[in-house]
Amino acid sequence: MGDEAMLVVNDVHKSFGHVGALRGVSADIAKGELISFLGPSGCGKTTLMRIICGLTKPDAGEIILEGRVINDVPPDRRGIQMCFQNYALFPHLTVAGNISYGLQVHKWKKDKIKARVEELLHLVQLEGLGDRRIDEISGGQQQRVALARALALAPKVLLLDEPLSNLDANLRVHMRATLREIQRKVNITTIFVTHDQVEAMTISDRLVVMNQGAVEQVGSPVEIYEKPRNEFVAKFIGYVNMLQGVVKDTSDASRSAVIDTELGESEIALGDSRLSRGEKIYVIIRPEAIRLDIRKSTGPMNSFAGSIRSVMYAGSTVKYTVDVGGKDLIVDEYDPTTHGIRRMGERVVAEIPRNVHILRADSRTPVLT
Ligand SMILES: Nc1ncnc2c1ncn2[C@@H]1O[C@H](COP(=O)(O)OP(=O)(O)OP(=O)(O)O)[C@@H](O)[C@H]1O
Ligand SMILES: [Mg+2]
Repeated sequence: MGDEAMLVVNDVHKSFGHVGALRGVSADIAKGELISFLGPSGCGKTTLMRIICGLTKPDAGEIILEGRVINDVPPDRRGIQMCFQNYALFPHLTVAGNISYGLQVHKWKKDKIKARVEELLHLVQLEGLGDRRIDEISGGQQQRVALARALALAPKVLLLDEPLSNLDANLRVHMRATLREIQRKVNITTIFVTHDQVEAMTISDRLVVMNQGAVEQVGSPVEIYEKPRNEFVAKFIGYVNMLQGVVKDTSDASRSAVIDTELGESEIALGDSRLSRGEKIYVIIRPEAIRLDIRKSTGPMNSFAGSIRSVMYAGSTVKYTVDVGGKDLIVDEYDPTTHGIRRMGERVVAEIPRNVHILRADSRTPVLT
């Protein structure tokens, strides 16, 4: 992002006693961007947010806002607003009272406060509810009050730590869209924290995948899903089938390689990657990329005979476990009303695509394509 970066996190470290909560975290966040930090519980997401907004001091590293190091700037002077998971709304105040709280602390004039609150109620679609008490509105509405309150003083950066985790599944999906809409409208630089991969993928411009206090990969949702840098990222973002393999042959002319995999020989497209004969790799295949067929005979390459070992029906998808010569493949098929649902024990042929993602087997980290 270079010069355009609104916020830079530079090599931040933080330990609590023996626990290394953050072990050198760096990230650039562009102006107006919605970037999600995601990772398993305890990986350091909240600690990082608290350091960014100034509630926790880092042991080392810098937080840079618009080119200026703000490590020593107190939280209320940073222009960075954090919105907590439990909203931390004042239950004895009204909706308007909650939204205007910070404005009153900053000694705004009464009529200015009134106008700003109206504007914010409109923004979060809570017009007419200003006089309600917090316990008289729904969970989704409380979420919006928290958001309006966080936006009241027009911060430069908004930090949202698991903002939707208190909501039920349907409302959560709805609020994702609302949140993204409001974020775009206000064009506010936003850091979103979640451990829900789907949530992060659907609303973000970019994702930062964290694990044990370190960044594993930064990229767009498509990059992270299609080209995970390592095994951790591949497995954290949705399910992957990982096939062990050895490169049997490569062809420069057709930019392809033949891999001896656990299932048998597969031909794969090489793209920009370089493989040499004898190299050990992992072939990464998403469940929706494998096709099932009931043909009796297998093709010459990339199709393998197996049988259905388990069936999980989920409405728009059916998830199958397919036993191919002792190796389980997870396969998703869409639109079961058209294709029908396969039976347990049914013989199938599983087709592996030519375009797959590859990881080197030694460290399981460096990416090849
Ligand atoms: N004040 C503290 N004192 C001691 N240890 C702490 C403190 N805050 C966090 N930790 C530890 O630091 C690590 C990172 O915690 P953090 O709350 O940042 O994780 P998280 O990614 O936000 O997890 P979750 O998804 O569960 O919210 C954990 O091992 C946690 O136990
Ligand atoms: Mg947390």
